[in-house]
Amino acid sequence: MEITRRAVLGGLASLPFFNAPAGAAAPALTAGQALAQIAPDGYDPTPVWCYDGAVPGPEIRVRQGDRVSRVLRNKLPDDTAVHWHGIRIDNAMDGVPGLTQNAVKPGQDFLYDFAVPDAGTYWYHSHNRSMEQVARGLAGPLIIEEPDTDAPDVDHDVTLMLDDWRLDPETAKIAPFGNFHDLSHAGRIGNIVTVNGQFGWSMPVRRLDRLRLRIINGANARVFRLRLKGLEGWIAALDGMPLNRPAPATIDLDMAPAQRIDLIVDVTAEVGEMADLVSLERDGGYAVAGFRVGAGAGQTRRAAPAALPPNPVADPGDPARAPLISLQMQGGAMRGLGPTRHKGELRAGRDLMQSGQFWSLNGQAGLDDAPLVDLAQGEVRRIALINDTMFPHGIHLHGHHFHVMNADGSAGVLRDTVLVAPGETRQVLLVADNPGDWLLHCHMLGHAMSGMNTWFRVT
Ligand code: C2O
Ligand code: CU
Repeated sequence: MEITRRAVLGGLASLPFFNAPAGAAAPALTAGQALAQIAPDGYDPTPVWCYDGAVPGPEIRVRQGDRVSRVLRNKLPDDTAVHWHGIRIDNAMDGVPGLTQNAVKPGQDFLYDFAVPDAGTYWYHSHNRSMEQVARGLAGPLIIEEPDTDAPDVDHDVTLMLDDWRLDPETAKIAPFGNFHDLSHAGRIGNIVTVNGQFGWSMPVRRLDRLRLRIINGANARVFRLRLKGLEGWIAALDGMPLNRPAPATIDLDMAPAQRIDLIVDVTAEVGEMADLVSLERDGGYAVAGFRVGAGAGQTRRAAPAALPPNPVADPGDPARAPLISLQMQGGAMRGLGPTRHKGELRAGRDLMQSGQFWSLNGQAGLDDAPLVDLAQGEVRRIALINDTMFPHGIHLHGHHFHVMNADGSAGVLRDTVLVAPGETRQVLLVADNPGDWLLHCHMLGHAMSGMNTWFRVT
């Protein structure tokens, strides 16, 4: 018999090996310790905890509808787990010890294997003792590409993972944890900001190049306010989800921890200049990422980009018909806690604060045995996020995106994390269509650890 190429391939495809679980030969994602040059040159490298020896961890990139398959190998001296932030996946793969899996012990492996329904910019990070593990470097980008034909026409697709670090100014070692002041105030704010793990990150571009910038706020607690200099363009997606129409990026961009923004921008700075992504701070602004502008190919500016193809999210229907749930945030410095439930007991706020719990959601600090709410799959709810504290909070829902409601009561942009200013109430609209037990927490990781943490169930 003549063995044709087709017969060989057909034969292979029917071998049982190919029917093994998709993760059987999954590549490793190794959590371990390494040295990284975080501080500017001249400083010592910083001992970090990270994935595959680098900060940020490797960019995991797959196509929409494909699977992410990685064996987490824990080579840390601590339990860990990986959460895939913002991507709507199977609950068992969500990476939350105590809720969706057991923590992975030192020396153990855990197979993460899931299909990705949505294209866009996501990230992954430790979800065990995250306040400390993420601050030590356990985070990386997760990029889901659009189907080929729909990819936007850009010269560079650039991931910019922002982070801030609190380093000892003498030794460049990561400053100690466990400071109650951080927990009860804005969270652990660093003293050095990096992009892709580097201080003063830059890349060469040409004048009038078109860039897709996938900006990820991987910081522990810092809210970035970003401004473009020598770059002009559009916001194409928020938290992975495309806008119906790209919006001109003419205002400063606020980013809570964990939020992402996809920009499509043209380099308008002159040849020989720098185009910059500028972080605005109280005392001025500085470039966190720079683009060194070389001679262009002489092209003229291109037309506005088309919208990215929409992701398959459920239609929430008329928001006014959705029952309302309230979620009241309380606590923190300058307000404190009243009587608050914690681990099944009603405790005096002062006691709780002395034991390191500073925040509550609906009068409860930390996870309760019962969910905040139990929803049937497909139910729609409006959630009023009421910030009764003196600090901003970036509220994140696992396993779902929600619409941030507009002032006129219509359903606005889709996000997985929303920034709620002190004293502000924001409503979001949720279609609870992903079954499982899901966390809902503040992504200022110190706040989550000190009480601002709850969960909901979809059955
Ligand atoms: Cu980015 Cu609960 O996590
Ligand atoms: Cu918070």
